[in-house]
Amino acid sequence: MKHTNDTILAIETSCDETAFSILQRHDDGRISVLSHKVHSQADLHAEFGGVFPAMAKREHDKNFTPLLASAFKEAFDIAIPETMTAEADQAENKSGSNINEQTTLTVESILSREDDLASDLIAYFQSISESDFAMIKERLTGIAVTHGPGLEPALWVGISGAKTLATIFDKPLFPINHMEGHIASVLASSAMSEHGGKVPDVSFPAIALLISGGHTELVSISSWHQYSLIGQTVDDAIGEAYDKVARLLGLPYPGGPHVSRLAETWRSAHPESDAKSHAKHQHGLTPSAEHNEFSLPRPMIHSKDYNFSFSGLKTACLYAVRDTIKAQDDQSLSQEQKEALAAEFEQAASDVLRSKTMRAIEEYAAQTLIIGGGVIANQFIRKNFAALCDESDISLLIPDKSLATDNATMIGLVAHLQIADGKTGFLPTSAEFSDVRAHGNLSL
Ligand code: KG4
Ligand code: ZN
Repeated sequence: MKHTNDTILAIETSCDETAFSILQRHDDGRISVLSHKVHSQADLHAEFGGVFPAMAKREHDKNFTPLLASAFKEAFDIAIPETMTAEADQAENKSGSNINEQTTLTVESILSREDDLASDLIAYFQSISESDFAMIKERLTGIAVTHGPGLEPALWVGISGAKTLATIFDKPLFPINHMEGHIASVLASSAMSEHGGKVPDVSFPAIALLISGGHTELVSISSWHQYSLIGQTVDDAIGEAYDKVARLLGLPYPGGPHVSRLAETWRSAHPESDAKSHAKHQHGLTPSAEHNEFSLPRPMIHSKDYNFSFSGLKTACLYAVRDTIKAQDDQSLSQEQKEALAAEFEQAASDVLRSKTMRAIEEYAAQTLIIGGGVIANQFIRKNFAALCDESDISLLIPDKSLATDNATMIGLVAHLQIADGKTGFLPTSAEFSDVRAHGNLSL
């Protein structure tokens, strides 16, 4: 079978997920996700209460080759060789002739800072058959990789790995902004279905709200690739606030889902609070949920700009815990108090997001609201925005829960959007290719 369509291998290593995806664009415009692999290191970072950059880098290095091999297996049915973990000298002695001496030297130089990644990759490619190697080369059109924002040591693993693959297969490299990936994640669900699907049309102008462990941003979008950052957090990101409140309540990292579960328990036990606070929202008020013993601030909700602040909200939680414990002369909050505080925190965070976002939608006359980033896995925030957009006739695009957190499918989709826009990426011989590097603070 001849494959003439664009097929992108996408790599994401900006934080604590090592992810590979392979996305093919068909002649009729459909995009299929041929492979979607995500390996989360969250459990390892849990004991540090956050992502530990040196460990993230080491884990990306270690998991890179096995995950790549499983992506090629899933997408192209390339058998995973038993010898893939062979040491470099073993690999050199193998009869494999997929990678010549010159390329080996180049690979070793590109990956000189990446632990055993050069020897792992060379061992892998020397161990697969020549026809499998040729098939990868024939089918891949380009390599997409996140080049920022994120943790630089972690980003470098993906970038150096991507440069290596681009060099081995002589394919162009597409450096992709992680936040643009979160925006594109809302387009992925049809591509993820069994037969793939067309990227849905989006009515512009649009507003994107990006909420993750590292970011809280409002972006105005006039068309694809035309972004303008209109607001962002002045201190902690919302996901970071969730994680810190989780730690305060004795819950493990990443804390978002745990805090959210507590809040949900409180709300199910107090169904009247939902209806009341919703009715008040329609009048533009932002009250604490009734019946909740805790009352937290809504930081910056009335500021004229589109910036956010979540550090004060986290500190208010800290004081609430401290004062309550002191007043009741106890060691910690009761389970019900933890649930109540989680619910009030979630309500406060959601109120601020909602208020600023709706104001941006009005000012920019947006027809579409896009919400991306790990925090939109949150059921309460999803539900609130769905109700609001329904009421105000705005089309809401949010990713499937599995695509809300970091993954490479969203990175590959951006590359496909760029190709559709006429971009060709950077070939290994170009100066732009050499210039691709990690940008920890890259903005849209
Ligand atoms: O986008 P992401 O996977 O990584 C970054 O680029 O930061 O987002 C991870 C963040 C973490 O802070 C995590 O606690 C939060 O998303 N998160 C949630 C939920 N699931 C993940 N926050 C609130 N509710 C959730 N259900
Ligand atoms: Zn992210």
